[in-house]
Amino acid sequence: MANDAYKIIEHKYDVVVVGAGGAGLRATMGMAAKGLSTACVTKVFPTRSHTVAAQGGMSAALANMGPDDWRWHFFDTVKGSDWLGDQDAIEYMCREAIPAVIELEHYGVPFSRTDDGKIYQRPFGGMTTQFGKGPPAQRTCAAADRTGHAILHSLYQQSLKYDARFYIEHFALDLIFDQHGACRGVLSLDMAEGTIHLFRAQAVVLATGGYGRAYFSCTSAHTCTGDGGGMVLRAGLPLQDMEFVQFHPTGIYGAGCLITEGVRGEGGYLTNSKGERFMERYAPSVKDLAPRDMVSRCMTIEVREGRGVGAENDHIHLHLEHLGAATIHEKLPGIAESARIFAGVDVTREPIPVLPTVHYNMGGIPTNFHGEVVIKKDGNPDHVVPGLFAIGEAACVSVHGANRLGSNSLLDLVVFGRAAANRAAEVIKPNGAQKPLAKDACDPALANLDKLRFAKGSTPTADIRLNMQRTMQRDAAVFRTGDTLKEGCRKMSEIFDSFGDVKVTDRSLVWNSDLVETLELQNLLGQAVATIYSAEHRTESRGAHAREDFPARNDETWMKHTLVSIDESGKAGFDYRPVHMNTNGDVEPVPPMERKY
Ligand code: FUM
Repeated sequence: MANDAYKIIEHKYDVVVVGAGGAGLRATMGMAAKGLSTACVTKVFPTRSHTVAAQGGMSAALANMGPDDWRWHFFDTVKGSDWLGDQDAIEYMCREAIPAVIELEHYGVPFSRTDDGKIYQRPFGGMTTQFGKGPPAQRTCAAADRTGHAILHSLYQQSLKYDARFYIEHFALDLIFDQHGACRGVLSLDMAEGTIHLFRAQAVVLATGGYGRAYFSCTSAHTCTGDGGGMVLRAGLPLQDMEFVQFHPTGIYGAGCLITEGVRGEGGYLTNSKGERFMERYAPSVKDLAPRDMVSRCMTIEVREGRGVGAENDHIHLHLEHLGAATIHEKLPGIAESARIFAGVDVTREPIPVLPTVHYNMGGIPTNFHGEVVIKKDGNPDHVVPGLFAIGEAACVSVHGANRLGSNSLLDLVVFGRAAANRAAEVIKPNGAQKPLAKDACDPALANLDKLRFAKGSTPTADIRLNMQRTMQRDAAVFRTGDTLKEGCRKMSEIFDSFGDVKVTDRSLVWNSDLVETLELQNLLGQAVATIYSAEHRTESRGAHAREDFPARNDETWMKHTLVSIDESGKAGFDYRPVHMNTNGDVEPVPPMERKY
């Protein structure tokens, strides 16, 4: 191997943040503001990060549109998580939501407004009042249906005020650890220049987003390849709760593009081929505003039982015609455009054809609510990995547990981006000394790059990727059974092995999209295997993990987080962490109960 052939350009910072979506930017600006020398390494230009696609809004109990309380938000999130969320972290997130959204307002986010000038808030699924006993809450702060766009641009503009350095179009290759297991930096490929960079730092923050592209039909951008999770697995660290994959009820049939839950928040509803508003049968109190896992299951049942719409009876209709053109153009302009372009539908006259579509990964890199990565070590389930943070969708804090409530994701990004910056300022000394790294510290990362760059197999990257995506779509779907999961595991292991025969044709380092897509596929493959094996392993139904052969939640055996590691041969190993059922004391914990709406 030709490691010596790679000249490494070295940089030294207090902190390096990988990823420039909402979480990465909030962490970058927070760290720089606290006087830490900060680099942000990102594979796309910051304002092209996938946060830009978030539509409906960010939850916070501001009570601008009616009574609300962050403790009700806390209750809803615990219940939404089907009691797999860590309650201390949920308490932190829901309490901090209020200052976090006000802070964004002050950063210039152009939120929609009420007549009296307050931030406009709409209802979202699973968000209620009076600890689940009252009517739906209007809690989701919106900038029309382009809230992620508005937040991302404001955060990028703000972050330019501080002395953070952006390394744009750098693909993160691998984390660099020392012999004591402390993370000491990250190696990247500058895709435009074809150069290799080592960012040495006292801490690395992974803000690399989810891995939605492991599936065939998803609302995620093509860049959502879970690069942080892939690096963590290669470093021999586990991922948490990977079996929990969120299907958003309303992806456009065929194209998969997101149609925001805000449509139902504004009064839209779903119908089957008989024209029935079927959610009334399944969730009589909240109907179309039930949480996503439930709505996705109900839609799937309607289609399975022959009540789907269209020539193939294989999808569902989402109506907003009755809202009227004025409301649609004011509150939902983005989805009106998406529906026209991707479904050929004029939403003021006809329903949108929709289907549950992969949208979010509840699982990810385990962290505490300061954003510090944790592992189980010497009997301590919350042992902090020195020098490593993870935030945003890449992380599993776990505030979403088995099912995330809509609009808790933009919240998670901002709250934990900020929390990580605060923590880093506590534990990192600005300009602190960094011990030299071992001479061969980067060798495994370079060897992996070199192996893929010169891969001479016979199977193109795109073929392996398509096989993976089809298998995940078929066998790790809204409903799962032992038989199909076993078959899916067998197939995914075969596909993982087929990566040994990958064919890369471009050997250069400059704008080599063949190589970068292969590196991304490697990241996706590890997480696809982790997901399907974890789903086979968890023999109960909870939140988004619906096992037809184990239809009940089983708190006695499964009220615990799954930790999954994937070794070099693709074999999955399991361990567990307890769920934090305690809070920090500002609210009473919510004991487990039946989850119905
Ligand atoms: O439906 C939506 O607007 C998506 C929001 C979310 O995933 O939080």
